[in-house]
Amino acid sequence: MATVIVALGGSLLRPELDERHTWLESLIGIVRDRVAVGDRLGLVVGGGAAAREGIALARPLIDSEDRLDRIGIAATRLNAAIVREGLADAGIPVSGTIPRSVNEAAELLEGRQVVVMGGTRPGHTTDAVAIRLAVAAGAERCVIATNVAKVHDSDPRSNPDAEAHDRLTHAQLQEIVGPPEHSRAGPSQVVDPVGVDAARRAGMPLCILDGRDTERIREAIEGREFGGTVVA
Ligand code: UTP
Repeated sequence: MATVIVALGGSLLRPELDERHTWLESLIGIVRDRVAVGDRLGLVVGGGAAAREGIALARPLIDSEDRLDRIGIAATRLNAAIVREGLADAGIPVSGTIPRSVNEAAELLEGRQVVVMGGTRPGHTTDAVAIRLAVAAGAERCVIATNVAKVHDSDPRSNPDAEAHDRLTHAQLQEIVGPPEHSRAGPSQVVDPVGVDAARRAGMPLCILDGRDTERIREAIEGREFGGTVVA
């Protein structure tokens, strides 16, 4: 029995792919299996395409990153609703509401085995929410399910020689993602630097992996080798 928090990058709910339904189904299957053995799971869902779209539409009209962040948060809560309703429909004991703060989520997790949430307030992304929830709930680890296999020392899309890391310390990861600041609403680093700072202060282990392959998410929840980057 373990308590694990999983940040599900919104890009995993890719609108362009038919397989996203299969992906959601297998995610629900993993949650069902882990609930059956007594785990507690917090799922924090990112905004993905809905956040990108909403922020892009509003940016020319709105001159405030906090306001744009709030549009991103609305998108994360939409995606969280999709995941929450899917789990509830599958008969999984998931909390009835989508909490608006980390403290509220940690309290709900005491009474329910599964809690699903999105973002909370401006100034960070759902990675940071997941890491703070992991700390507040006394979780064993925080899984960051994104769309790259491992953390690289520079962006592998622009640098073909970028080196992939199997293991990093929190300080090394902070060095890679940069100082804990949230400068702009919308697309960001492989892991939110604000979240990395929170993980470093609390000594919270992070498992960063390619969530498109749901088996990796299962392995990381179970504390097994998962083929991504371990930060400890
Ligand atoms: P995401 O957590 O999806 O961040 O939130 P992201 O890094 O841009 O996207 P993924 O996870 O890689 O797909 C979307 C946006 O919503 C706002 C931020 O502007 C963020 O970029 N947000 C989200 C907040 O301001 N606070 C939150 O707690 C969560």
